[in-house]
Amino acid sequence: MLIAIDGPAGAGKSTVARKLAGLLGYNYVDTGAMYRAVTLIALTSNVSIHDTEALTRLAEELEIRFERGANDETLVIANGRDVTRDIRTPEVSRFVSLVAQVPGVRGHLTDKQRTMAGLGQVVMDGRDIGTVVLPEAGMKIFLTATVEERARRRFFETAGEGYSISLQDHIDEIGTRDILDASREIAPLVQAPDAVVIDTTGKDPDQVVELILSLLRGG
Ligand code: DC
Repeated sequence: MLIAIDGPAGAGKSTVARKLAGLLGYNYVDTGAMYRAVTLIALTSNVSIHDTEALTRLAEELEIRFERGANDETLVIANGRDVTRDIRTPEVSRFVSLVAQVPGVRGHLTDKQRTMAGLGQVVMDGRDIGTVVLPEAGMKIFLTATVEERARRRFFETAGEGYSISLQDHIDEIGTRDILDASREIAPLVQAPDAVVIDTTGKDPDQVVELILSLLRGG
């Protein structure tokens, strides 16, 4: 069984996908982390964020794996280095939508995602999983929430990490990212016609996971 979870930034995809994978004993693949890893490597190795050929090469050469850390945290290991924290900085968040627009980057990362899903029993989250990466997925979920709620979640997530970003900055950043992600030419953020839409506004992750489990049980 392949489970695809798509939706905009802050809709709760990664928390829900990780919990669901843990409960089902499936592997969890965070595809946003893959775009973030390419962005981080570009920013830290003097590759211009506008050099599409160099970015494509970074995506092709990227070796990435997900490991379960303490407290059920998912560790992201890219090219042998633990980048779990570094891929979530405001700088990476600012540039990742640009990197995710590069066709060569998407092509290589999509190939890697399909390979990871090859063995089955995978929960994969992203923007184009149900539409492009795994159109054959047995269960497709599209998570949404209001911009304000999504910004509030990101605000609380980053508050503990020492970045001084206001709630309004988060609302602006998420709004801009939504537009870029939904309007790009290749694999834009759109709902698969056969996806089940869940609005997570006002719901905690456990409630959303429970809903998905009941769908899997055929309820
Ligand atoms: O889910 P996230 O915020 O970590 O995603 C980071 C960026 O990567 C986001 O701007 C959209 C992009 N992305 C994508 O284009 N396709 C995916 N499958 C996953 C993420």
